[in-house]
Amino acid sequence: MKETAWKSPSNIALVKYWGKYDVQIPANPSISFTLSEAATTTKLRYEEGTGTIKVFLDGKETPSFLPKIEAFLERTAEFFPFAKEMNFEIHTSNSFPHSSGIASSASGMSALALCMMSVKKDLGLPITNFFEEASNAARLGSGSGSRSLYGPLAAWGEHAEIEGSSNEFAVAFSDVHDIFKSFQDTILLVDKGEKTVSSTVGHGLMNGHPYAAARFEQAHENQSALLTAMLEGDLERFGAIVESEALTLHGMMMTSMPYFILMKPNTLEVINRIWSFRQQTGNPVFFTLDAGANVHVLYPESHKEVIMSFIDSELRTFCKDGSYLCDAVGLGPTQL
Ligand code: PMV
Repeated sequence: MKETAWKSPSNIALVKYWGKYDVQIPANPSISFTLSEAATTTKLRYEEGTGTIKVFLDGKETPSFLPKIEAFLERTAEFFPFAKEMNFEIHTSNSFPHSSGIASSASGMSALALCMMSVKKDLGLPITNFFEEASNAARLGSGSGSRSLYGPLAAWGEHAEIEGSSNEFAVAFSDVHDIFKSFQDTILLVDKGEKTVSSTVGHGLMNGHPYAAARFEQAHENQSALLTAMLEGDLERFGAIVESEALTLHGMMMTSMPYFILMKPNTLEVINRIWSFRQQTGNPVFFTLDAGANVHVLYPESHKEVIMSFIDSELRTFCKDGSYLCDAVGLGPTQL
């Protein structure tokens, strides 16, 4: 068998994608920091064959991953028509613990899409733009995965102020003040459980949501305002938009039918302490949330020492087993 391998990162959205149309078309534009530590490494072994697939997680055969991979290959058949005439062995591992509550779909799907693109290249099939096509394919596996292909930031979804932006693939974005190119993200593991709302169900909640139209409009406006704030290095404005986006995401879940609360009491404890600390000390520290209870603490690298000491003394106690992951803005995938 031949083989190819990629390491692809996770990302954290600043303007959130929440709501989609068929197939994997976002209802609003989003933009994210690409992470540097949280990543999936995937080695794809391949040979001519009959479409058999074996998948291994951390060296152990894991057939429970097969349905997702088969669905991905079916959806991406236009990019990888050769998949049915090959046998694959997929060896994958994540840099973050399985039980951390960190979703591996964005990093996992982007790593697999990149491996498939490398096979395509190896077969000598025409490729116009390697990363654009990889992002397009990753999107079909995981919407947010489309944004894992580039650093330091990536934008997905048509937006008037982002040239070349598309609903089908993400584009690299680096038109920001240097302070954002080394931003830190300390992920507080408030709850390590499985997600209580799958992202498919979550996006579905926006269908017929009473506030959907206003929310989609707001995302466009927030993205415009965020681009200006990031270009100017305006940390205060950046923080206000990013925190509002996180709470809006959760607000959408609380006001849908059925309704969900994905924050835990400790999520609110952490948020309140970040607000008090910021008010009392003037330090630029902000939070964002995924569709879960964990808190991403965002701050400039220049303030790492003071913020880490604040996290250890005041926030760590709200984490499960006192655990957090230290991450920072990264540069995107690497071929191994
Ligand atoms: O890519 P999905 O379908 O798992 O959805 C991701 C949704 C959020 O993480 C909540 C927001 C985002 O833009 O990443």
